[in-house]
Amino acid sequence: MKRLVSGIKPTGELTLGNYIGAIKQFVKLQDELEDTEFFIFIADLHAITTPQDKQLLKKRVRDIAAMYVACGLDPKKVNLFVQSEVLEHPLLGYIMESTAYIGEMERMTQYKDKKQKQTEGIRTSLLTYPALMAADILLYDANLVPVGQDQVQHLELTRTLAERFNSQYGETFVVPEGFTPKVGAKIKSLQDPTKKMSKSDAETPKAYILLQDDINQIKNKIRSAVTDSDAKIKFDEKNKPGISNLLTIYSAITDMPIKDIEEKYKNETSYASFKEDLANIVADHIKRIQDRYKELINSKELDEILDNGAMKASFVAKRKMAKVLSRIGLQRKK
Ligand code: TYM
Repeated sequence: MKRLVSGIKPTGELTLGNYIGAIKQFVKLQDELEDTEFFIFIADLHAITTPQDKQLLKKRVRDIAAMYVACGLDPKKVNLFVQSEVLEHPLLGYIMESTAYIGEMERMTQYKDKKQKQTEGIRTSLLTYPALMAADILLYDANLVPVGQDQVQHLELTRTLAERFNSQYGETFVVPEGFTPKVGAKIKSLQDPTKKMSKSDAETPKAYILLQDDINQIKNKIRSAVTDSDAKIKFDEKNKPGISNLLTIYSAITDMPIKDIEEKYKNETSYASFKEDLANIVADHIKRIQDRYKELINSKELDEILDNGAMKASFVAKRKMAKVLSRIGLQRKK
């Protein structure tokens, strides 16, 4: 049986980028891959690499759990859990810190970007974050890790650490493969389509769509997305990044190939009706997710799903951890 692992950090509300680049892929793979066990979690330990409000963090962990299910993850097929409820994650994270070199951590572009934005009080864990992420993956012997483009470098490092550990201590970890979607691995900002759509883009809420946004707000954000002035609906990331991003969103949500969408709108002389159609498509899609989310968020069912997920994940993680410790010589009796 193969394994698939992925997670999302509860540092803000989920964006359309998280949905298209990650959650929608999990749902698709869950239906496509039969011989694969899924471990999908909420990466709450990763959230505290930057300061978090206690109540808000708690709320966001639960929100993401409810959203996972509302977006279509089936708890019968997928083990859904909260990372901090399986303490082998930080334990193996420490082992990974003891496998990685500081230089490797310092080279991570996400760390460099974040460090630039914040000058004081940078937490040590922001630097060592990729070691914990490697642990999240290697703990379950994941074969496949679906992520958006911004996580690919972390995944490469995970592979390096797995190989290094294996060569130092003997075959222990499966070296995982990344999986990024062909369409939608990097959904861009609606206001600056050269940048990633990001939940941390706090100053420009029009730049991102949140899965919890008001439905009319979602439509307005798409209507006012920045596009060029040549009015041709054509995919051309370099010269037409705005319209290319909207075509990507259209294709990812409807599963319609970009070529077919271009064909459908080839006689248009402005972007207005294309944007209006997309606004309705995205709004309707998110509305269905929100309806299901509302049923789940305060339910006992959600706690049962997470309790069960943590139990199953712990079972696998404990066995793996025992093996890792004994490989290193950290088990007194074995
Ligand atoms: P996070 O929480 O920043 O993002 C969660 C997932 O969403 C993807 N994503 C996007 N995809 C397309 N377009 C965008 N604009 C966009 N923004 C975000 C991310 O690539 C990611 O797949 N370190 C991870 C969480 C993590 C993890 C793991 C992932 C922790 N441990 C182990 C996989 C395996 C993170 O911060 O993702």
